[in-house]
Amino acid sequence: MAIPVIDFSKLEGEERAKTLAEIARCCEEWGFFQLINHGISEELLERVKKVASECYKMEREENFKKSKPVQLLNELIEKKSDEKVENVDWEDVFLLSDENDDQWPSKTPGFKETMKEYRSELKKLALEVLEIMDETLGLPKGYINKVLNSGDDTSAAFFGTKMSHYPPCPYPEKVTGLRAHTDAGGVILLFQDDQVKGLQILKDGEWIDVQPMRNAIVVNTGDQIEVLSNGRYRSVWHRVLAQPDGTRRSIASFYNPSYKAIIEPAKELVEKDEVVDLVKYPKFVFGDYMNVYVQQKFLPKEPRFQAVKAM
Ligand code: OGA
Ligand code: NI
Repeated sequence: MAIPVIDFSKLEGEERAKTLAEIARCCEEWGFFQLINHGISEELLERVKKVASECYKMEREENFKKSKPVQLLNELIEKKSDEKVENVDWEDVFLLSDENDDQWPSKTPGFKETMKEYRSELKKLALEVLEIMDETLGLPKGYINKVLNSGDDTSAAFFGTKMSHYPPCPYPEKVTGLRAHTDAGGVILLFQDDQVKGLQILKDGEWIDVQPMRNAIVVNTGDQIEVLSNGRYRSVWHRVLAQPDGTRRSIASFYNPSYKAIIEPAKELVEKDEVVDLVKYPKFVFGDYMNVYVQQKFLPKEPRFQAVKAM
């Protein structure tokens, strides 16, 4: 089984209706799909790959060797223990945002310029994807983005880019690259390695690979789209397996609600059963949700909704 692939350019032509229907089905049944012909130039994507791997080698790799997962795995091997390393991920990671751009890696030539350009393109693509979801859900154009920016006059959606490298692991059965979770926020656009695999999603009780595809962008929806859509578009469990060979690059850009945003199922999507509204999720403030999420990221999402409901 493979993750569905959507040709984004077909939204422009006579196959628009068919493509919209395909995207709706992906969101309902998969929670994940890959975009090709998404309009981000190959030239830019090639530069991103180059600066990301140069940055990893020049500014990150040495530190990973001294990191917690490496220490914990070494201890386990020395003890000849049968256990697994729990509570850590075999991952090197840092976050890029507009707010922290004075702290971005600075030694790699071209890193900052390239990643600024990339983030600006990906943010546009994220907004396009959200408008497509407005349309496939039957919501007014701009609805989801408006909710993600809601709260007060100063609220703004957050666009972050998480740059990760998953180094080769000598004992991949003893530690996970990134433990299984659903994503907290809105929509996530992932530019993953085209050589080294590792990302899997849980589909009908089975873990399946998100097959590497050169210069494709993987899209998935977070917990907040599940709430907004009243469960039509469910966020899906995924994880990254550590690999014995090769460093896997993955760059996840997420378009998330403001911490002040008020999240609740869209009225238009709440069905009525005779007299009562079938509202499946509570109304809450996204910041409250995130406070719960940081404690419970690797656990099922339902208790998180329960926890914010009680606030
Ligand atoms: C994440 C995530 C997948 C990857 O950061 O939430 O799922 O391939 N990343 O790095
Ligand atoms: Ni994730």
